[in-house]
Amino acid sequence: MINKTQKGTFITLEGIEGAGKSTHIRYIHELLSQAGKKVLTTREPGGTDLGERIRDILLMQHELNIDAESELLLMFAARSQHLKQVILPALANGIIVLCDRFTDSTYAYQGGGRGVVSEKIDRLANLVHPNLKPDLTLLLDLPVDIGLERASKNGEADRFESEAVLFFESARQVYLNIAIADPGRVKVVNAIRDIDHIQQEIKSILQEHKLC
Ligand code: TMP
Repeated sequence: MINKTQKGTFITLEGIEGAGKSTHIRYIHELLSQAGKKVLTTREPGGTDLGERIRDILLMQHELNIDAESELLLMFAARSQHLKQVILPALANGIIVLCDRFTDSTYAYQGGGRGVVSEKIDRLANLVHPNLKPDLTLLLDLPVDIGLERASKNGEADRFESEAVLFFESARQVYLNIAIADPGRVKVVNAIRDIDHIQQEIKSILQEHKLC
């Protein structure tokens, strides 16, 4: 069982496609490193050899007809390995773990997008990380049409990017509901604005949390 005897801080970035997570995660890593913190940036699905192979299946193997619950289980298989091999040891060593997506993505995509009932996700979350929640989650929020337009410039669409607008509308709504339900943890950042404004806001959130 996972024990939250952590000394480090667990920060996650969330948002639909095109929200700019990759750019902002690099900025946060830099900012925290400059403040003298030990930071580890990682991602889901992925972050371990097994997780990266599962990621390849989930994102690239269009022909496998992966059903929604199989997809859900694969996400948690990757997550379980990631927690044990990377996230928990780093937190135990006092490192700030900066993770590009975590279980909120599962509620948004498998729950909202695919329509898996949230009780099933709750059960897997309780099994895989019973006592762990991110300390801070930055939700980069923007309208779906703008996000998809931005994401379409990054090359060929993966299995998720190939989904219809409605899929992402549901995912976005689930994210916003999570933020309303858990305002202490989840900070919504308006990601339509220019990069400087977004980064200023991210910086002040991190300052409020005494992270930089
Ligand atoms: P990204 O990290 O480049 O955004 O790609 C990961 C994709 O995987 C993205 O479309 C969201 C999806 N995903 C889920 O559907 N459920 C999850 O639990 C996670 C972590 C990601």
